[in-house]
Amino acid sequence: MKGLLRKLFSGCTAFLFLLMFTECANNSGEKKPVEQTVVIPVTQDLALTPPMGWNSWNPFGENVSEKVIKETADAFVSSGLKDAGFNFIVIDDIWQGGRDSTTGLLYPDPKRFPSGIKALADYVHSKGLKFGIYSDAGTLTCGERPGSYGYEEKDAKLFAEWGADYVKYDYCHCPDYGSENNDYKMAAARYQAMGNALKATGRPIVYSICEWGPRGPWLWGKEVGGNLWRTSYDVGDKWDSPRNEESEIGFLASIDVDLNLARFAGPGGWNDPDMLVIGLNNTGFIKGGGCNAIEYRTQMSMWCMLAAPLMMGCDVRNMNDVTKSILLNKDVIAIDQDTLGKQGFRVYRLDGIEAFKKPLSGNRVAIAIMNRNSNAGKITLSYKELELGKDTKYSIYDVWKHSAVSAPAGMVSAEMKSHECQVFILTPQ
Ligand code: GLA
Repeated sequence: MKGLLRKLFSGCTAFLFLLMFTECANNSGEKKPVEQTVVIPVTQDLALTPPMGWNSWNPFGENVSEKVIKETADAFVSSGLKDAGFNFIVIDDIWQGGRDSTTGLLYPDPKRFPSGIKALADYVHSKGLKFGIYSDAGTLTCGERPGSYGYEEKDAKLFAEWGADYVKYDYCHCPDYGSENNDYKMAAARYQAMGNALKATGRPIVYSICEWGPRGPWLWGKEVGGNLWRTSYDVGDKWDSPRNEESEIGFLASIDVDLNLARFAGPGGWNDPDMLVIGLNNTGFIKGGGCNAIEYRTQMSMWCMLAAPLMMGCDVRNMNDVTKSILLNKDVIAIDQDTLGKQGFRVYRLDGIEAFKKPLSGNRVAIAIMNRNSNAGKITLSYKELELGKDTKYSIYDVWKHSAVSAPAGMVSAEMKSHECQVFILTPQ
């Protein structure tokens, strides 16, 4: 029913709503002329499945340029990323040259973006892809470029004129009011200001809230117009490590936060455990020491189980075969993009082995089993432990081996390497 309502208010359905309204009026006997009928402004449903794309920060940081963005767009097409569903190309921080003191308009760094942002967005669009840009709710961005505070409407209008389809909005250089002063309300108000400004442009723009989690953006993100909200601090190119002021967290630490927030995610508004580090191999602008192939595959598996936005963060112009095999795995991507829009949750945890379940459309279920340990081992879990109906018979498909697997009745079994995550789709027979 919810799905139906959403459809009714989406895209070109304002017309449909108009008809319904007229019919209701007729049923009640009140013959209202059509011209008196209230027309709901056409709104567009955005991000009904988690956004998929690429962001410049992890691989290029302050060295992002129009050359990189154009070549990335080309690589989306030639490597098959576009066909696999990746479509947003987002320029992160440090694209800005400054803010014009007369017009108040932001302008890009003239050396790295000599043709301007509009021409660049046009190029990205010409490849059938979507274009995204970055700003900040404070006076300065995290990279100390001009932020949008006080310029929300001007900047949103400019981004829309340039052809932006996605805006990532950071939270550096914003005052910390302290929890006793409802700091989260101040954050929500700043995000609302940009959310309103983006909506007022009339252009459908996916709004990515990047507050990192301390002010609970999952509680207010959707209300202020957000389509995704970061749940963690920046994820580095590493398996695990908690946050300290100097460095990024490992992706395992980000999973642990996101896992508690499943109930806040759904079509139109997603928890965002940050970008993918797959394929960086310790060569990125962000550091961390790198991960091995199994660990990178685990990030992909878990991001898909968590219905997380899949924003790639490596240099996709130069992907090796391992990176390609992970990022282009359509079977695992289909779990992320499943139209039911449910985030997965943990059903089992013992001695470093964890299992997760994500309900899928068609009564199917995705099950992931992850080994946090540094040793290998075999694990067999019963349907009961996986919270599956014990009387249902499932066929089991391994999304990394791309083949059906046989298991003892009522069980899922896996030989696990260290830090491996295996993912299965279970279809009732
Ligand atoms: C913050 C964000 C990152 C990135 C940088 C850019 O750290 O969390 O994702 O956008 O700023 O300065």
